[in-house]
Amino acid sequence: MVRRLKERFEKKFDEEIRFFKGMMQGPKSVGAIVPTSSITARKMASVINPQSGLPVLELGPGTGVITKAILARGVKPENLVSVEYSEDFYDHLTQDFPGVNFIHGDAFDLPNTLGKFADQTFDCVISAVPLLSFPMPARVKLLEDLLDRLPPGRPVVQITYGPVSPILAQPDRYQIQHFDFIVRNIPPAQLWIYRRG
Ligand SMILES: C[S@@+](CC[C@H](N)C(=O)[O-])C[C@H]1O[C@@H](n2cnc3c(N)ncnc32)[C@H](O)[C@@H]1O
Repeated sequence: MVRRLKERFEKKFDEEIRFFKGMMQGPKSVGAIVPTSSITARKMASVINPQSGLPVLELGPGTGVITKAILARGVKPENLVSVEYSEDFYDHLTQDFPGVNFIHGDAFDLPNTLGKFADQTFDCVISAVPLLSFPMPARVKLLEDLLDRLPPGRPVVQITYGPVSPILAQPDRYQIQHFDFIVRNIPPAQLWIYRRG
């Protein structure tokens, strides 16, 4: 029991150090100061329909807190495709979550990044990419690309830390829903859902 607690503590500490190192190397590309809380991760994963039979697309898994919550929701590792830009995070993720389809690449260039999954329809998208570090046209283009990969009505969930939706409202193209505000996250997190049709 004590040994398990010690191992859990060491793993958490190791994740935070890794996150901090990533933040120091590229604060704009990491976009947060500590890993996402497990409460936030579970809330984001709650939108998944594990019965859909479709894979889930995750963007910006970082240390894997949200990846873990997605798998805990009942998604099989081989049914998760996860795109991470940082090589260091990617290397750790492939060790920590065997069987998950991690792709080392750019979420803003999905047609190339997704490789054999380029034509795949996904159940939903769970995204932690730091949208606020990118210009608005790039954010809108990414969202529209993601929505094209989902059945109508299925969600793209995005975590962010600003007070308003990080993506411009265009009611004729997609709907925006404020999903949650989670105080137990550092910093407190806003969750947004985008969908079509
Ligand atoms: C806010 S952090 C995610 C934190 C993660 N939920 C955790 O708890 O560790 C943002 C993540 O998005 C990744 N990222 C940034 N730009 C990206 C891009 N263009 N494509 C894919 N991943 C990207 C970063 O490397 C980082 O892992």
